[in-house]
Amino acid sequence: MDKIVALCKRRGFIFQSSEIYGGINGFWDYGPAGAELKRNIKDAWWNDVVRSRTDVVGIDGAIICHPRVWEASGHTTAFSDPMVDCKKCKGRWRADQLPDTKCPEGGPHDYTEARQFNLMFESHAGPIKDEDNKVYLRPETAQIIFAQFNNVLSVARQKIPFGIAQIGKAFRNEINPRNFTFRSREFEQMELEFFIQPGTDAEWHQTWVAERLKWYSTIGLPAAKLSCYTYKKEELAHYASACVDVMFEFPFGVQELEGIAARGNFDLSQHQKFSGKSLEYFDDETKAKYIPHVVEPSAGVDRIALALICSAYTEEEIAPGDVRIVMKFAPRIAPVKVAVFPLLRNKPPLVEKAREVFKLLQPHFNTEWDDRGNVGKRYRYQDEQGTPWCVTVDFDTLGEKGPELLDTVTLRDRDTMKQERVKIADLVPLITAKLRG
Ligand code: GAP
Repeated sequence: MDKIVALCKRRGFIFQSSEIYGGINGFWDYGPAGAELKRNIKDAWWNDVVRSRTDVVGIDGAIICHPRVWEASGHTTAFSDPMVDCKKCKGRWRADQLPDTKCPEGGPHDYTEARQFNLMFESHAGPIKDEDNKVYLRPETAQIIFAQFNNVLSVARQKIPFGIAQIGKAFRNEINPRNFTFRSREFEQMELEFFIQPGTDAEWHQTWVAERLKWYSTIGLPAAKLSCYTYKKEELAHYASACVDVMFEFPFGVQELEGIAARGNFDLSQHQKFSGKSLEYFDDETKAKYIPHVVEPSAGVDRIALALICSAYTEEEIAPGDVRIVMKFAPRIAPVKVAVFPLLRNKPPLVEKAREVFKLLQPHFNTEWDDRGNVGKRYRYQDEQGTPWCVTVDFDTLGEKGPELLDTVTLRDRDTMKQERVKIADLVPLITAKLRG
């Protein structure tokens, strides 16, 4: 992980939050490359889960909502982890994640009794800081969907089965944030609540497990590093009939990327009870009235970004002692799709032509201009950022070696390092075709 963390800083994927003040544990900032990577993950999910389907609609809810939402969902009473203090190292640890023999700091331990620690961040809405004005930063996006079920149903022209999706920030005051961004205190979720007829839970759960697993290969996570963990009956929440976690083999172990749970009608029933508003659905074909059941695929954007970074990181010895570091992202997910270079930055005709090429590509792809250092160094920089293609404008482009190469450029492939000579006019269709795979 050390090499990956160093690359993330060096190439602008992930920075420690407020680093100039010594950082703050459990919070991270995404740099230029990381922001693009995260955006591409979210766009891919939104496109595939919402826009490409006819049975899912999206919402974008507030981070802070009525505190009764969290009473109904059970978060105020049950969303906690057991915590202990170690009297020897003075550390505070999650009791269920402690090694058996020593303290996580490495020495002998002397733990206090475990006590429950609620993970929700609290704040106050308005100027008076009392219990009546207490609010929570949402610890998941899901409950906002349940609380808006009636409103969405009334506008969405959907019938059950249908889903409501949301991407957004969630906050958990984790006792021990760890493994880089894997367990953070602020993170983003992509959640779908797929509402179904009671009794169809098992088949819809299987459908969504298969769908979600398939999706990970479309963003370039290798199947060999993905697996599923199926919860045993005794591990399930009392209201759930099934749960499968999509797992990824990180350098620090096999860990969860997404959970897909069949949650029955627990959430809507609770909100109906706490709000006093009916959340029943009336099926006008069968005339049946029921509280819909739900299947919930819930994924973490930051964990997927970290999985993509870990799986993309490659070291290749291209000559004795010369190691190339290349981030082999799937082009769909790569932060920058194409970089444009003038061969030399101090030759105005080259720069002018390269600017023309840049302007041609920019409306179609996320394109980067790069004229620092020599071309070899620019390739290495772009390799570390995971840019799939680099375009170089050279003297041949200007027709200096004859008219047959006029208005052609080199297109260099990140993975093979091969360069082909292509016409500027063919660049957009060619790169578009490559992007589509
Ligand atoms: N609504 C269901 C729910 O929130 P969860 O398993 O607690 O389920 C779903 O969270 C996903 O959110 C996880 O699979 C993970 O990807 C992400 N996630 C949860 N806690 C996280 C944390 N502390 N840091 C980063 N991602 C987290």
